[in-house]
Amino acid sequence: MNHTFESFLNETKQLIERELPEYVRSLDAEYRLKEAMLYSLEAGGKRVRPVLLMAVLDAYKCPIKDGIEVACALEMVHTYSLIHDDLPAMDDDDLRRGKPTNHKVFGEATAILAGDALLTHSFSLLSEVSHLSAETKIQLVSLFSKAAGARGMVGGQLADMIAEGKSLDVDQLASIHNRKTGELLAFAVKAGAIIAGASEHETKVLSAYGKEVGLLFQIKDDILDLEGSVEDIGKPVGSDVHNDKSTYPGILGLDGAKTMLSNHYEQALQYLDELGLRHTLLEDMATYIVDRDR
Ligand code: IPE
Ligand code: IPE
Ligand code: MG
Ligand code: MG
Ligand code: MG
Repeated sequence: MNHTFESFLNETKQLIERELPEYVRSLDAEYRLKEAMLYSLEAGGKRVRPVLLMAVLDAYKCPIKDGIEVACALEMVHTYSLIHDDLPAMDDDDLRRGKPTNHKVFGEATAILAGDALLTHSFSLLSEVSHLSAETKIQLVSLFSKAAGARGMVGGQLADMIAEGKSLDVDQLASIHNRKTGELLAFAVKAGAIIAGASEHETKVLSAYGKEVGLLFQIKDDILDLEGSVEDIGKPVGSDVHNDKSTYPGILGLDGAKTMLSNHYEQALQYLDELGLRHTLLEDMATYIVDRDR
């Protein structure tokens, strides 16, 4: 990891870690609900989606603090998706971000509600950003809700469950991965482009880069589910095999999945080339996602 990228990663993560809990602490709500929301938000996590949004701002010389609210809203929706993903009715996992899962600590009902509250609060946060125009906020809310909802993450999660135990082809699997994971990462990139005032063409090419990065992210997640260590990934290893999930290594084998990973990485870099954005933090982000061991 080069020095500039490492300091960017540390600085943006620190900013997120500082601001994120404040949006929940200041809520007028049940103590137990806030406690459950904060438990998962503060458990750590790589903060890839917020950092990606901010890397786009940086590439366009826009102050990263201009993206803080949207970045935190995105991390709230992501965290809610993890709380629900771990529930017994879904992947039934006991460990997340190196700690017992939300339902293990607070019980299923509170975990479900903490997820619901993070989801709804994220839109409230987004609607109240004072330095963005009403038009920009409506554009962001529209894209965000599509990425997170029935045609995006939520629909992808259902498709992922329906596919358990089935043999899919690569295109079918890519469609599930794009929806359950890719769309939220692509939204991070699009939101960055919109906040930074990128042109329509730039936003379109950046969205294509975001889609590639999103797919890369889930392919790598599937590989780490097999090859990672519990200490590094902070969640159980082998959860996919246990649940009979359709994954890239499952369909293509580990080597095939790794080849797919590098193909999509190359494609992501080509989009950056098109915009003259190679050798920026956006290239470092793609490299980080491919090389990560957690
Ligand atoms: C895990 O996401 C779930 C997927 C969408 C693959 P992350 O790997 O970003 O999890 P955290 O936020 O770092 O815990
Ligand atoms: C989940 O995918 C994607 C989400 C929308 C949360 P996984 O089920 O593979 O995520 P992990 O491996 O539990 O983090
Ligand atoms: Mg899952
Ligand atoms: Mg899971
Ligand atoms: Mg996984």
